[in-house]
Amino acid sequence: MRNLLVYLAVPAVLLALMPSPGAADVQAGEGIYARQCTRCHGPSGTGNEKAIKLLKKDLNLLRPEVASRSDAELLRIISEGRKPMPAFGTKLTAAEREDVLAWVRHLQGRH
Ligand code: HEC
Repeated sequence: MRNLLVYLAVPAVLLALMPSPGAADVQAGEGIYARQCTRCHGPSGTGNEKAIKLLKKDLNLLRPEVASRSDAELLRIISEGRKPMPAFGTKLTAAEREDVLAWVRHLQGRH
């Protein structure tokens, strides 16, 4: 009986330690953001000065209008792009897009 409990408990503990599917990985998101987003949106999300001048767009992701959009809406924009923002629907996996959104939420102070 005790052995049986050990056999059941070990996989349960291992499962509990694994990241649950669907949970965004904010640290992975930070890396993706640094590689794919900083050149336009800047490291802190307020927008890269040069890109703002060049594109004549407000690239600040910390604006209340952006922060108040739903996750679904921001994920859609990230997937489809906003010219000249590339569409990341094919460049990143769904999980990577969730991760990068988690990092954007972190920058917005909403996590
Ligand atoms: C080539 C420059 C560029 C890159 C790279 C880029 N973006 Fe953008 N992004 C833009 C532009 C331009 C807009 C649209 C701004 C506007 O319409 O006022 C935008 C808009 C957005 C919006 C919507 C803001 C709103 O108005 O609601 C989000 C969210 C966003 N970007 C996230 C990201 C993320 C996350 C990445 C990296 C995976 C990224 N962007 C990479 C240029 C870029």
